[in-house]
Amino acid sequence: MIIEPRMRGFICLTAHPEGCAQSVKNQIEYVKSKGKIEGAKKVLVIGASTGFGLASRITSAFGNGAATIGVFFEKEPAEGKTATPGWYNSAAFEKEATAAGLYAKSINGDAFSDEIKQQTIDLIKQDLGQVDLVIYSLASPVRKDPKTGVLYRSVLKPIGNKFTDKTVDFHTGKMSEVSIEPCNEEEIANTVKVMGGEDWMLWIEAMKEAGVLVDGVLTLAYSYIGPEVTEPVYRKGTIGRAKDHLEATAFEITDELKDIQGRAYVSVNKGLVTQASSAIPVIPLYISLLYKIMKAKGLHEGCIEQIQRLFQDRLYSGNEIPTDEKHRIRIDDWEMREDVQEEVKKLWAIASTENLQEIGDLAGYKQDFLNLFGFGFDGVDYLADTNEVVRIPSI
Ligand code: NAD
Ligand code: NA
Repeated sequence: MIIEPRMRGFICLTAHPEGCAQSVKNQIEYVKSKGKIEGAKKVLVIGASTGFGLASRITSAFGNGAATIGVFFEKEPAEGKTATPGWYNSAAFEKEATAAGLYAKSINGDAFSDEIKQQTIDLIKQDLGQVDLVIYSLASPVRKDPKTGVLYRSVLKPIGNKFTDKTVDFHTGKMSEVSIEPCNEEEIANTVKVMGGEDWMLWIEAMKEAGVLVDGVLTLAYSYIGPEVTEPVYRKGTIGRAKDHLEATAFEITDELKDIQGRAYVSVNKGLVTQASSAIPVIPLYISLLYKIMKAKGLHEGCIEQIQRLFQDRLYSGNEIPTDEKHRIRIDDWEMREDVQEEVKKLWAIASTENLQEIGDLAGYKQDFLNLFGFGFDGVDYLADTNEVVRIPSI
């Protein structure tokens, strides 16, 4: 069928298989162009199908020829109904990896469950023996506790005070004022339960217990800090509490892995257009201003540029892994540069529906958003009939 983007609020209901394949190919080409990374050889990526997780899988495979297992939660296609983008991305990734002679297998299911953890451990035992890098890159609004069966929902709310500021509908470019009521204590706890470090720890404990972690294993999860303007809804809001918990969990995991000399890190990444971040009020406006400034300064990066730099310059540079005072890896260094943030602040103060097209990079935002779903890529014929029923070879 001919597949067009169908927007519904902050999401797109369709995805383009060939566009997603093009996106994966572009990312592979980028990683190859940057040369070899002397890194991990057997890698598990949890949350491997889109965003930073997919970029981590591609960087591992095509930067260093690593065998990869990817875990994700995506909807498969049916006749007349497209899959979610992560499904098509993973199908394309496996195809490219296999063609390059690299091991690549995937598991589609709820990573929060005991069953998927066990299935993953069994696959590692069967095919790889052990892994030397575990990337934890889940972004989910819900989590079912595997022990109690209780379903928890995260919220994106400020803590303590009602928050009011500018926001933009990036589809129309229309700005407005948004107000969000503060959360209650239960909502903080629920958000920590979903997006904090508990599940990361459960993964590592189960894998260590099963003996599938190599001596000296590295594990990494991703966090965000961002600027002052987004603090009330992000870093000092409910999601920020979850990120605090995730960052604290890195220390606990390093402790847990002491006897096998393993280490856990959190990397603070740049704010980018992903399915998750588009749904957060205020963030799209910030990102569109940030993109404009970073592009003008030649500092702009997408997921793949971020993760390639993270692996090459931070994780596997041959030196000690550099961290900040809280033991976090900072690959948001260019975003947080003082000159960049000063300019964002100035633009934020004057931004309006009338001037946003000019002072912000709304076009770049929209392009990136379409790209998430496989639309808007050069080299793809979007008017051609496309087979939506694409299989992931290993599933
Ligand atoms: P994303 O939505 O692109 O990717 C999420 C991944 O998690 C997908 O592979 C999805 O299939 C998988 N997933 C979700 N629920 C699952 C489940 N129950 N079981 C198995 N897999 C599941 O998100 P992203 O933006 O790449 O975020 C990844 C991490 O990076 C998050 O911790 C996020 O907070 C962090 N981060 C994001 C940004 C940003 O601006 N987007 C910036 C810094 C850090
Ligand atoms: Na991801």
